[in-house]
This record gives sequence, structure tokens and C-alpha cells, in this order.
Amino acid sequence: MRILDVGCGVKTYPGAVGVDRNPDVRPDVLWDLDSFPYPFEESSFDSVRAIHVIEHLGDVIKAMEEFHRLLRPGGRLRIETPHYTDFSSFCDPTHRWHLTSFSFRYFGEDHAGFGYYSRCRFREVSVRVKLLALWKWLGFELLVNRFPRFRRFWEHYLCFVVRGKVLEFDFEAIK
Ligand SMILES: C[S@@+](CC[C@H](N)C(=O)[O-])C[C@H]1O[C@@H](n2cnc3c(N)ncnc32)[C@H](O)[C@@H]1O
Repeated sequence: MRILDVGCGVKTYPGAVGVDRNPDVRPDVLWDLDSFPYPFEESSFDSVRAIHVIEHLGDVIKAMEEFHRLLRPGGRLRIETPHYTDFSSFCDPTHRWHLTSFSFRYFGEDHAGFGYYSRCRFREVSVRVKLLALWKWLGFELLVNRFPRFRRFWEHYLCFVVRGKVLEFDFEAIK
């Protein structure tokens, strides 16, 4: 199992190749993820992990296309990123993007009618939203994750009050 951990920080995922642009975190590969192509062969990974890094990158579409290039057919992409209503999303001045649970839909099989932004496609295996503790205890997290239509309703009408925390996505590369 070849795993690539992009923006690995100080704790590279066990067994993964860690990439980061900051030499102080001592990555396996020192590389700026805004520079393309990344220094790996096409289809050379079974899994790419992008944990709290996509919101830092210059071009989300290009990064997704590069993750797609590096994954074997059927390979898995894990993305974790703050929901845009969380304090951490805007508190960190190195965050360039503030995302929702629908922010990667252009790469989906039905691409929400905007398939022309990119040719690369991912199958959405799962999307999970973590909410602030109070809302979790009141049962909103369960509802948001159990019912996709309720998640859409929450994103449109409720999320400025019932605030999100972290988004967790699992995708499969379609090639
Ligand atoms: C919030 S930390 C997350 C670290 C780790 N993934 C984790 O979850 O603990 C973001 C990491 O992404 C790295 N990073 C941000 N922009 C980058 C870029 N353009 N190229 C490479 N690494 C980048 C930072 O140096 C930092 O280590």
C-alpha cells in the first residue's frame, strides 16, 4: 500500500511518504504543493491523504487534478478541512479557501452541471461533517450525516447558527 501524505506537517501518517514545503517539519520529500507536477510517477499511489492542507493551497482544482494523476485507478483520496463556519477557518491567515461539504462536487460523476472546470473525476465514497460539540450533543451531527438532503438544508439555512467544525471526505479516483 503506497500512501502519500501531502502537507504532512510534523506527524506523517504511518507508512506514508510525507510531503511538505516546510523543512522544519522534516518531510520525506520537500516540495511546494503549488508547484506542478509533484515529483512522483502517474498512478504511483494507492492512497493520498490531504489533512488540513487543501485550504492552504493556491489552486484547489489543480491540486485535485494532481492527486488524481498520482492515484491508481480506484485509489483513495482522503481530505480533511475546516468547515467555513468554524472559527479555525478564518482565524488562520494562511487559509486561502473556506469550504463547504459540497465544495468538491465539480469532480463528482454528475459534477453538478459544472463538469467543464476539470476532466478528472472522483466517486464520493463518504462525506462526514463534524459540528461544534453543543450541536453534536443535541443530535444535529447525526441528522446532517445520516440524511444528505438534511445536510443540504443545513448548509443553506442553518449553518451560520448550527456551526460546522471539520469536513471529512473519502473519494475514489475514476480513471
Ligand atoms: C495545518 S498543517 C497540517 C499538518 C498535518 N497534515 C496534520 O494534519 O497535522 C498544514 C501543513 O501544510 C503545509 N503546507 C501548506 N501549504 C503548503 C504548500 N504549498 N506546499 C507544501 N506544504 C504546504 C504546511 O507547511 C503545514 O505543515
